[in-house]
Amino acid sequence: MASWDPSQYAKFAGPRLRPAADLVARIPDRRFSAAVDLGCGGGQVTGLLRDRFPDLRLTGIDSSSAMLKAAERALPDARFVLGDIADPALAAGFDLVVSNAAFHWLADHRRILRDIVAGLPEGGVLAVQMPQNHAAPSHRLLAEVVALPDFAPLLAGVSSIRAVDDAADYAGLMFDAGARAVDAWTTAYVHVLAPAPDSHPVLEWTKGTAMRPYLDALDEAAAAAFLAAYRERLEMAYPARPDGRVLFPFRRVFFVAEK
Ligand SMILES: C[S@@+](CC[C@H](N)C(=O)[O-])C[C@H]1O[C@@H](n2cnc3c(N)ncnc32)[C@H](O)[C@@H]1O
Repeated sequence: MASWDPSQYAKFAGPRLRPAADLVARIPDRRFSAAVDLGCGGGQVTGLLRDRFPDLRLTGIDSSSAMLKAAERALPDARFVLGDIADPALAAGFDLVVSNAAFHWLADHRRILRDIVAGLPEGGVLAVQMPQNHAAPSHRLLAEVVALPDFAPLLAGVSSIRAVDDAADYAGLMFDAGARAVDAWTTAYVHVLAPAPDSHPVLEWTKGTAMRPYLDALDEAAAAAFLAAYRERLEMAYPARPDGRVLFPFRRVFFVAEK
């Protein structure tokens, strides 16, 4: 599994936390007994759950020990556990299951999410956000560079984030799995990114997420050539404004399912 770098991911902590705050705000007001944050990363979303539900027992699960270390430092009163969220059994015993920007890494996320909601107790809630930006230039151009003859043979078999369906598809999936109420929506944020010295702000963004598995698979020289090819394309697709800032539209899909 590719490595996660908490400090690269945290470079855009503000814009990355906004969708999580929007998700957590839509969780119904009720007394839950225990919550789990699947793919909790550095624990920022677990922290939002702590703010919203101060007395709740909180567990975060992630497959990156570097991210979990950062989470333990950020939120010492929660429990953080190393695990693979591909196993829906990890959600057993929790009546609030939350996941922000994690399930799009899993090829089979629809089946796992369906199994999680099917296994919730009566009154339980599953709240999920996933980026749906795979058709935007940021992700299309990344795929274009991966397919260049210089890189394709080196990157064969390397997988990154997966395509995410429309909000209505997940709403249908949740109802089919036994949810009695579903709140599903899509938001297109326009992130205003500060200039990135000697780089491009959108490159710095994807470097912390979708680009990681590719960089991990390349040696230093190939990675530098890869970054240069991607940056050249991004500069045309996302030109800097006169003050150097870059506007980065980003779509995300959300759903909150109640059993
Ligand atoms: C984009 S980060 C989001 C972190 C956090 N939820 C947030 O919103 O700040 C994605 C996280 O999902 C985790 N992840 C990806 N695939 C996973 C898997 N199969 N099992 C557990 N964690 C996984 C990564 O390690 C990473 O910390």
